[in-house]
Amino acid sequence: MEKTISIAIDGPAAAGKSTVAKKVAELLGFTYIDTGAMYRAVTNAVIKKGLNPQDERQSETVLPGLSIDLLPGGQVICNGEDVTRIIREPLVSGNVSYIASYKNVRLALVDMQRALAKSRSVVMDGRDIGTYVLPDADVKIFQIASVETRAVRRYEENIAKGIPTSLKDVEEDVRKRDYIDSHRAFAPLKPASDSVLIDTSFMSVDEAVEAVLRVVKEKTGVAPKC
Ligand code: CDP
Repeated sequence: MEKTISIAIDGPAAAGKSTVAKKVAELLGFTYIDTGAMYRAVTNAVIKKGLNPQDERQSETVLPGLSIDLLPGGQVICNGEDVTRIIREPLVSGNVSYIASYKNVRLALVDMQRALAKSRSVVMDGRDIGTYVLPDADVKIFQIASVETRAVRRYEENIAKGIPTSLKDVEEDVRKRDYIDSHRAFAPLKPASDSVLIDTSFMSVDEAVEAVLRVVKEKTGVAPKC
């Protein structure tokens, strides 16, 4: 079997990881895996059942038999239902970091993530990919941007998707998630010691993609075909 390559892109909320990861995957012919969407899907399942996402015991009850499928077109299917849009709503964004701090939730999703990365080349984005999910990843990127830049980007994304939010609420959500994500006990957000830091505050999407591709070329020799 041909050797597979894994690229981990971690970083704080709304740093543009998924946009960059998706493009890099497309250009290299790799599979893109959005692990944040998986935590969002669990959060939505908890809320849908009328459970309290800030209660660990209650939240964990959705795990047995839970199925999450990430389709090549970007759709997210949870227990047979298309949740692509609802998982981006403020109610899910505002609760996902509680759900993501629960150890049993993480263990269940990390198993799925490792299985997805096992037999194919992947670009996987999240918070703990380089430190915990794929510690042997061939390339590890830690992508950051200032909190103000990130809030504006997410606000504009929400507007484009027809999700009503205010810039102030988005900035608060980003700050809150950053805090919870980097202070949780299990697999917190932090750069892997062997990661390459890319600050995209003053970069366009294409420049950020170029920056990641340069690191990929340097570390693995792999480059886009055309
Ligand atoms: O796109 P955005 O940066 O807003 O977040 P996301 O990647 O969709 O992730 C949503 C939330 O899931 C994060 O704020 C984390 O709480 C959690 N998450 C995590 O804990 N570990 C991951 N590997 C991915 C996401």
